[in-house]
Amino acid sequence: MSSERVPAELSKGVNGLEKVILREARGSSAEVYLYGGHVTSWKNDHGEELLFVSNKALFKPPKAIRGGIPICFPQFSNHGPLEPHGFARNRFWSIDTDPPPFPTNSSSKAHIDLILKPSEEDMKIWPHSYEFRLRVALGPGGDLTLTSRIRNTNTDGKPFTFTFAYHTYFSVSDISEVRVEGLETLDYLDNLQNKERCTEQGDAITFETEVDKIYLSTPTKIAILDHEKKRTFVIRKEGLPDAVVWNPWDKKAKAMADFGDDEYKHMLCVEAAAIEKPITLKPGEEWRGRQELSAVPSSYCSGQLDPQRVLQGS
Ligand code: BG6
Repeated sequence: MSSERVPAELSKGVNGLEKVILREARGSSAEVYLYGGHVTSWKNDHGEELLFVSNKALFKPPKAIRGGIPICFPQFSNHGPLEPHGFARNRFWSIDTDPPPFPTNSSSKAHIDLILKPSEEDMKIWPHSYEFRLRVALGPGGDLTLTSRIRNTNTDGKPFTFTFAYHTYFSVSDISEVRVEGLETLDYLDNLQNKERCTEQGDAITFETEVDKIYLSTPTKIAILDHEKKRTFVIRKEGLPDAVVWNPWDKKAKAMADFGDDEYKHMLCVEAAAIEKPITLKPGEEWRGRQELSAVPSSYCSGQLDPQRVLQGS
């Protein structure tokens, strides 16, 4: 049957690290490293790469891979006592061969289920027992969906609290040609000004300097318009009220060993996140956070963030 899903293929990636390749019949594909549960590639049906990964990315534990979609858990950035962005992005995940039933029907898509549980060493850093299940699914139209299910499996009766982000690095033609729609007039915390709370002014967001902002309680849909590429990324999110927008610009780029000096021109991070109001789970409780990414031709009217119209390209 042509509707049968193409199986996920396990193979060796950079430095022999294991990765899973997902392919859809029309030609789109995605790659997920078990190291970090980290999506490093998402290609459309023309084989064009949609995610940014640095040419200097190390693919060498314990350093997280620079680019793709790192998972920030159980802490976003330096918002707490743990290492920046937590530890999920530099742990080895396993393939979950028998995941519990999925609430939405994504089993018809090419997908892979991964799982992360704490090691004894991890328990010393963050003394909680959990099961973190990640499904990465590629739809027939090439859309990429990441769904995280995090369950508190503590046996000591204790709740735990975490913050979270899908730290997605989008590939863009030229950052000065890019605008983000859906975040206008929102409040944000400015990481470049001691997390000061400010309000976004004016029109869609454009870029001419370093940006590191956490937009609060955003709409569930955000668009990144790349004028030069004539491509629009649409991010839809559930369970993730906040959105981080980050570009290091030239000075910070130079200071990062695993990032090329000029690469900031070709990437933009827009990160579906839960930061301002951390998530608390009691034992037995589960949280779910989902992001769906699609890339469509930019033929829709800027300012009208109607996903149906975006998807139809009208
Ligand atoms: C962003 C943060 O999400 O990640 C930035 O808002 C941070 O403050 C950036 O610099 C990159 O973090 P890292 O740890 O991957 O270098």
